[in-house]
Amino acid sequence: MKKDKRILMVCLGNICRSPLAEGLLRHKIQQLGLSHQVDSAGTANYHVGEAPDVRSQKVALAHGFDISLLKGRQMQKADATEFDFIFVMDKSNLQNAKEIIGEDSDSQAKLIMDVLHPEKNIEVPDPYYGDMSNFQQVYDMLDQACDQIIQNYLR
Ligand code: 4NP
Repeated sequence: MKKDKRILMVCLGNICRSPLAEGLLRHKIQQLGLSHQVDSAGTANYHVGEAPDVRSQKVALAHGFDISLLKGRQMQKADATEFDFIFVMDKSNLQNAKEIIGEDSDSQAKLIMDVLHPEKNIEVPDPYYGDMSNFQQVYDMLDQACDQIIQNYLR
């Protein structure tokens, strides 16, 4: 088996998409009896210290895991050395993440949907101003992406 890896999920606010991605990937890793480490962060500092959006919490609980105790934090430059893989949700996250970690086009930060559809630039849409159906759509995309991350990088 490969050695344990550290994976960082990144979005803008760290309250909707990336905490859901963090909880989901951690849940899948636990179910498989693996011990990789997962964290999440936002490129912005708007919601530092806050719990995930209640809509993300609800979607998580509906799928068997609890993200209510997670706390928002802002991505830092040191994350580039702390983590083996950094997955971002959309193109603006990618731009912002690269500015934080100071890398150019060869950045270790990648669009998460690239694991399923390389170079298609598919984004996980920001659900913040949407409704529960938008959060469910985010979950469905992340569910497929996390399975592929496990298959590609964590087994
Ligand atoms: P997230 O969603 O990036 O998926 O956590 C957002 C949360 C908050 C804001 C934007 C997006 N906001 O502008 O406060």
